[in-house]
Amino acid sequence: MDLDAFDPFNKDILANPYPWYRELRNHAPCHFIAARNLWVVSRYDDVVACARNHGVFSSTGGVGFDWEQRPMMPMYDPPQHTRVRRLVSKHFTPAAVALRAESQERAVARLLQPALEQKRVDLVSDVAIPVSLNAIADLYGMPEERRRDLRRWSQGVVEELAGGLDPEATARVDILRKEFVGFLRETIAERRAHPRPDANDVLSLVMAAEDDDKLTDREVVAFGVLLLTAGFETTVNAMANGVLALITHPDEWQKAITQPELVPSLIEEIVRWDCPVQSFFRNTLSETTVAGVAIPKGVKVQLLFGSANRDERRFPNADDFKIDREGPDHVGYGVGVHFCLGAPLARLQLGALFSALVKSISKLELDGEVVRAHSVLFRGVRRLPLRIEPR
Ligand code: HEM
Repeated sequence: MDLDAFDPFNKDILANPYPWYRELRNHAPCHFIAARNLWVVSRYDDVVACARNHGVFSSTGGVGFDWEQRPMMPMYDPPQHTRVRRLVSKHFTPAAVALRAESQERAVARLLQPALEQKRVDLVSDVAIPVSLNAIADLYGMPEERRRDLRRWSQGVVEELAGGLDPEATARVDILRKEFVGFLRETIAERRAHPRPDANDVLSLVMAAEDDDKLTDREVVAFGVLLLTAGFETTVNAMANGVLALITHPDEWQKAITQPELVPSLIEEIVRWDCPVQSFFRNTLSETTVAGVAIPKGVKVQLLFGSANRDERRFPNADDFKIDREGPDHVGYGVGVHFCLGAPLARLQLGALFSALVKSISKLELDGEVVRAHSVLFRGVRRLPLRIEPR
């Protein structure tokens, strides 16, 4: 494998990046791509060290390769980041999101019912997308009749994150974003005018904070946008990657249906083994060295979470998908100050879905072509047609 040919944006490489990652870890753990003026970090210890060192590896300037800076928490460094994170984090703890468990379990049961009757389903469009949107709609306290709109807006977000849009697509995505932001603005104004003391949607909770410091309405809107941007496609990808992993590892599927108590370690293994967020970028604030390679100030560095999670220095038999794998921690939810705010909520949704699958289905098979989707940041599936045998 010729590492000079490695380009993290190349579609053929993205189709199966794992052999390339191994080559990078073994031969060029901090690899410079001159054509893009980009440094790529691939070993677990180095990815963790860079992500923790936000004083050098800054998120300001964008965590995508060519994203513009937006006023949002993932693109802030401390202390600006610390302030926003402190004002929202208590609503995302495992205890806080546990209050949403019933709604998640009900949504999964309702959405799986037709699939169990028809014995056929597209796991992505019929289950993963609505389950994920249900969780986000609950965070907004969104009325039932607006939830159809959320699905349209989410498609705009997915297209925007994928990048490379032609002018027509840009115009379409702009309209969707304006509608979505309009909904958030109206909702926030309405809740400001008529606060409900018993409301448990995150927008109301964040606005009701009895702190000296509070998010402004503009910041609440930005936070609302962030929840869909960060929490939708990631979770859909995890669900679809996980089901695909179980189909391609029938022994692990058998293990899962005979030992449903393994669901918590199964959902960690899914996010480790075929991680929905493959990478994020950082911007160097000063000269530094990674794996003995000098990196100048003011350049982009790609942190390959997808490779760190397959690092055999950290995970024994790292390429094996083992649903009963025990520790150590993977970096599928990131690491450091930007560690995924929504991880407890993602675990809740994944737990609800995979518990229901292993309890209600005895056999899972592909029923048509799987359409994979990958960008330099995200790895997932757009279409996953299945034939299922209920228990
Ligand atoms: C399996 C699903 C998910 C995965 C794999 C995932 C992955 C990640 C990763 C890797 C980061 C770190 C970004 C960085 O270092 O720059 C992150 C941050 C974040 N995630 Fe998630 N995420 C998931 C689900 C969610 C959900 C459901 C939500 C909320 C509804 C969410 C909200 C966030 C937010 C707000 C941040 C930014 C945190 C900060 O900057 O402090 N994520 N996520």
